[in-house]
Amino acid sequence: MDNPLFQNAAKVLDNNWKQGFTIPCEGLYPFQWNWDSGFIALGWMHLNLSRAKEEIRSLLKGQWPNGFLPHIIFHNPSDTYYPGPEVYKASLSRYSPEILTSGITQPPVLGFVLEELYNNAKNKKDILKFLEEVYDAVFKNHHYFYTNRDPQNEGLVYICHNWEAGTDNTPVWDDIWATFKVPEYDLPRRDTQLIDASHRPTNKEYAYYIHLVELFKEWKYDDALIAERSPFLIQDPLFNSMLIASNHSLIRLGEKMGRTEAVVQLKHWNERAIAAMNNKLFDDRLGGYVYYDLRNERPLRYLSSSSFTPLFAGIPTQEQAEKLCANLKNGRFDGSQKERYLCASFDPTSDRYNSEKYWRGPIWINLNWLMYRGLIKYDFLDVAETIKRDTLLLVQKYGFYEYFEPSKEKNKLLKTGYGGANFSWSAALTIDLLTNTKYP
Ligand code: SER
Repeated sequence: MDNPLFQNAAKVLDNNWKQGFTIPCEGLYPFQWNWDSGFIALGWMHLNLSRAKEEIRSLLKGQWPNGFLPHIIFHNPSDTYYPGPEVYKASLSRYSPEILTSGITQPPVLGFVLEELYNNAKNKKDILKFLEEVYDAVFKNHHYFYTNRDPQNEGLVYICHNWEAGTDNTPVWDDIWATFKVPEYDLPRRDTQLIDASHRPTNKEYAYYIHLVELFKEWKYDDALIAERSPFLIQDPLFNSMLIASNHSLIRLGEKMGRTEAVVQLKHWNERAIAAMNNKLFDDRLGGYVYYDLRNERPLRYLSSSSFTPLFAGIPTQEQAEKLCANLKNGRFDGSQKERYLCASFDPTSDRYNSEKYWRGPIWINLNWLMYRGLIKYDFLDVAETIKRDTLLLVQKYGFYEYFEPSKEKNKLLKTGYGGANFSWSAALTIDLLTNTKYP
């Protein structure tokens, strides 16, 4: 493709490729990250399918024998990131593999990524061969979630750490941090030296993040103890939507591959999961899906970009989907385009909103991509078009930053995006938006 935006995106991926996997961003994130790699593979699939496969194989090298897939795989040493493998000490778990990994996970995107690879592949025989190689590992990961992380047998899985959400410092967690105290920690952070510290989580928040890891180590990463004792135990609409979308994909792929037993199991999980999402996590008054605090048995009633991601997994009824769309179009998220580009990562009308700080407000390209696909699924083509246009406008204007300012007024004065530059999933998903002919 001749388009310079496409060419620049391809260059970012190429520069971030490190013999078998792609780092999210030089300096700031120097290892392999779980859900990053899923989105990155969607860029590679248009450029170089072997690299997409390699990316996934490398990630699965970090899988634990119980199916758990960690959020970071430390293939290589680096001193530009904290906390590294010496903090996680994953070897305390009886399941940890030989390769160094973290001890927490991230949203399970691999299932639907595999289906994207299948749908886009010209040579179906070749891609099926690859799917034969990796399908069981991804299924095993889903099995891990439903057997270890659903203590009340509701069909929804929990996350036990804010980094598992992917939306690391969403203001939703403010309510959780208020429920327990943490010691003071020495925090040799690197991130705040590499980029503008005001765009990153605070040290106070980091103390909570590290404290949770310390607790998990004390409990040797034992899932039963975590479920019983972790002060952070959340049913997350984004995380569960990724799992449900991935279940759907594994069902469709499994049917092609003759995986009858797996398909029956996946259908069973999804039936219950979708019902629970709609009965428990949909907030009718707010018109969106919200997080549920399982430890303190209460819904956390805030809208964030995560609230709209069930569209991607086909979870909402048409009526619920209309409510979600209304929020994006005319409601708090201002898709009417008077003041803001779509889509802020947290409710812009909240006093917790901060348009520059990581997941407290800025626009993220992966969430936009998920929403774009979800809106198309429900035939909300005008909002889908808006979100795609805004996404491409931002990366075109600034380059492939990690996150972006939603306010149109502030954007008039800005020269860059926020966070890390040359960020892999921003580039990868731009490539998909520009190339994927299956979507308008
Ligand atoms: N995104 C986290 C960080 O900023 C880790 O997953 O370090």
